[in-house]
Amino acid sequence: MSLPSRVQLIDVGPRDGLQNEKQPVPAAVKIELVHRLQAAGLTEIEVTSFVSPKWVPQMADNAEVMNGIQRQAGVRYSVLTPNAQGFEAASKTRPDEIVVFGAASEAFSHKNINCSIAESIERFAPVVQAALAAGIAVRGAMSCTVACPYEGEVAPERVAYLAGLMKQIGVQRVDVADTIGAGTPLKVQKAIEATLPYFDVDHICGHFHDTYGQALANTLAALQMGVWNFQSSVAGLGGCPYAKGATGNVSTEDVVYMLHGMGIDTGIDLDKLVDAGAFISGFLGRQPNSNVAKAILNKRLG
Ligand code: HMG
Ligand code: MG
Repeated sequence: MSLPSRVQLIDVGPRDGLQNEKQPVPAAVKIELVHRLQAAGLTEIEVTSFVSPKWVPQMADNAEVMNGIQRQAGVRYSVLTPNAQGFEAASKTRPDEIVVFGAASEAFSHKNINCSIAESIERFAPVVQAALAAGIAVRGAMSCTVACPYEGEVAPERVAYLAGLMKQIGVQRVDVADTIGAGTPLKVQKAIEATLPYFDVDHICGHFHDTYGQALANTLAALQMGVWNFQSSVAGLGGCPYAKGATGNVSTEDVVYMLHGMGIDTGIDLDKLVDAGAFISGFLGRQPNSNVAKAILNKRLG
């Protein structure tokens, strides 16, 4: 199959990236990060999550962040909503898309959202209905589609099972997530293959963490199957609080550099993106977790 000529990137840095930060990040910094991402040409940004502040304290300022953003026309702002309570709070902040998030592994479902896969679907169903009725788009994140921090390897049949349930309740598109970044290209392709009976390739997003340094290879493997929507995190921020040791998503800078080098359009200005990554990394007191960002920043020093 020929490669797509254009790729749509969803930057999940403000949410997946910052949710795991131990040091408090003020809402104003998160808002500035979103502004810098949209100025760099990102047209989809996962801004925050409406989850329990006891579980994920860093996202407690969700409404403040959503309400503080100066929205740009043509940009889609998404938020995570695990249940009706989260959706109710989120809907007041006018997200363009909500994300229900389930897992292909039972153990991860319990650790992350405190219920079984079947129970999670029961909770999501009314949320999906309410969102669609309100004209809000719905994405479903599928965690642990390759491996689980508690159960080890996850079989593609488990992914198919979850994808089928997500489809049944009206989810419009899904993220095939390698939560702990343990996947390799053929395994990621199997997870995507397992999803394809339920969602066509235009409605599948690749969401690859880079813990083992495989995320770019996994991105290429997904591209070869025709996937053209991907999530990535500026400066490679992040990790999941319930996937110990897992590092952030593949950095948006690395993905953009690879795609542009292959002649694939993203609409993103790499220099401005590197600036956005340097901004948030500077605040956090470290270097961006991105080879491309580091190379470009070093080159600028002359
Ligand atoms: P629970 O304790 O089972 O919920 O948590 P509950 O309904 O029994 O309620 C207990 C308390 O939580 C109550 O408060 C509720 O009000 C409150 P209390 O009476 O004790 O003061 N509560 C809420 N507060 C705010 N917003 C809400 C909400 N719901 C209940 N929406 C729950 C269930 C899902 C809420 C909890 O487990 C939770 O918040 N988990 C957080 C999970 C999370 O954010 N994980 C990280 C994101 S997922 C991820 O990173 C993976 C992804 O990137 C893809 C990948 O890489 O795999 C997407
Ligand atoms: Mg993630």
